[in-house]
Amino acid sequence: MIQIKTNILTPLIDKSILFKQNQYIKIENSRIIDISSEKFSDTYLDYSNAVCLPGLIDLHVHLSQVNVRGKHADGLLQWLDNYIFTEEEKANDPRYAKDIAVQFFANLLSCGTTTAVVYVAPNPSACDIAFQEAQEAGVRVIMGQTLMDRNCPDFLCRDTNRSLEEAITLYHKWNKTTPLLEYIFTPRFAPVCSSKLMKGIGKFASDNKAYIQTHLSENKQELKWVHELFPDSNSYTEVYEKHQLLGEKTLLGHAIHLSDEEMNILTQTKSKITHCPDSNFFLHSGTFHLQKILDHNIDFALGSDVGAGTTLYMPHIMKMFIYRQEEYHITLKEALYYSTLGAAKVLGKEGLLGSIEKGKEADLTFIELPENLNRMPEEILSYLIYLSDPANIFATYIAGQERYKKKG
Ligand code: GUN
Ligand code: ZN
Repeated sequence: MIQIKTNILTPLIDKSILFKQNQYIKIENSRIIDISSEKFSDTYLDYSNAVCLPGLIDLHVHLSQVNVRGKHADGLLQWLDNYIFTEEEKANDPRYAKDIAVQFFANLLSCGTTTAVVYVAPNPSACDIAFQEAQEAGVRVIMGQTLMDRNCPDFLCRDTNRSLEEAITLYHKWNKTTPLLEYIFTPRFAPVCSSKLMKGIGKFASDNKAYIQTHLSENKQELKWVHELFPDSNSYTEVYEKHQLLGEKTLLGHAIHLSDEEMNILTQTKSKITHCPDSNFFLHSGTFHLQKILDHNIDFALGSDVGAGTTLYMPHIMKMFIYRQEEYHITLKEALYYSTLGAAKVLGKEGLLGSIEKGKEADLTFIELPENLNRMPEEILSYLIYLSDPANIFATYIAGQERYKKKG
């Protein structure tokens, strides 16, 4: 058992916020088993200098792109051709794949992220190595290698049947082998995946109730390309629907340029959206239709989308989320919710993750505040979102284990 004295700031499922100072969190076997203003015993860690948030969740991030952030391009397709594919090729070298995975998970932890949904470079051995390093670092991940079998450079393109076999092998090797690791089938996006590959993934994932992630309608040129490649489908979303790729365990990155019909398909299939505002800014992709997504009752939450996103630090992504919406005034509470409990809900894990409550996993992010800051929830969230940076992260806990502690 461990006990931590701290100040709790957590969202609740009705999107309200709870702030309680000088609380004792009692942790046993990875879970929060009690919270009280009275100590449970005389031995405790004193983190009363910090505010304790639920562990931050990044729903969309590319591990193998962490070293090519901030490479300016005119738009998505040019950016992929100019920088991304050549960088992902480097992961064919197992030493590079290991180094970048080690660095990635260390960075995530130092940014206070406890759960990440991750794209790894197409080489399956890079994904295998990434799982080993995630296990070593003790990070909670849902992760898969990016699948492509056409319209991409030869050095990344894989044979369709082999690609499917490799993905299924990694699924069996890593999915739920520990409570922290899960596999996600990861067709990159429709233009680089054959119908056969997408159908194969769709069938296996739906038979096995596995997660799927891909990109949807991020960029207008991409949209045009999809219409040329799939003339029999009425929309980009319909392409995925026809290949059995949609469902409640499907996470669709971006989903910016959607028609009402497409949103209706997402509502009906209970598919989820990962909104990546920093990336959308960076690649000039367009503006996410937040009000329409809410009106259609489609679950969504936030992702960094590093390397098109410039940072793994989720409070920065919350800031971009607020800045990107002109008409809808996002509250600070909402910004926190969509990086914690709202993100857990997208994963179907709101009973386990995303808030600091008795019975939940002890995934906790401790952030230091300036001494002169008024200890009120709005002030704390303002500081977190607008001013803080990774240097303010004091400690990161996952499943009750300290996985990062600030030096000094
Ligand atoms: N669409 C297809 N691949 C990618 C990628 O790596 N990043 C982003 N932002 N969009 C994509
Ligand atoms: Zn992406």
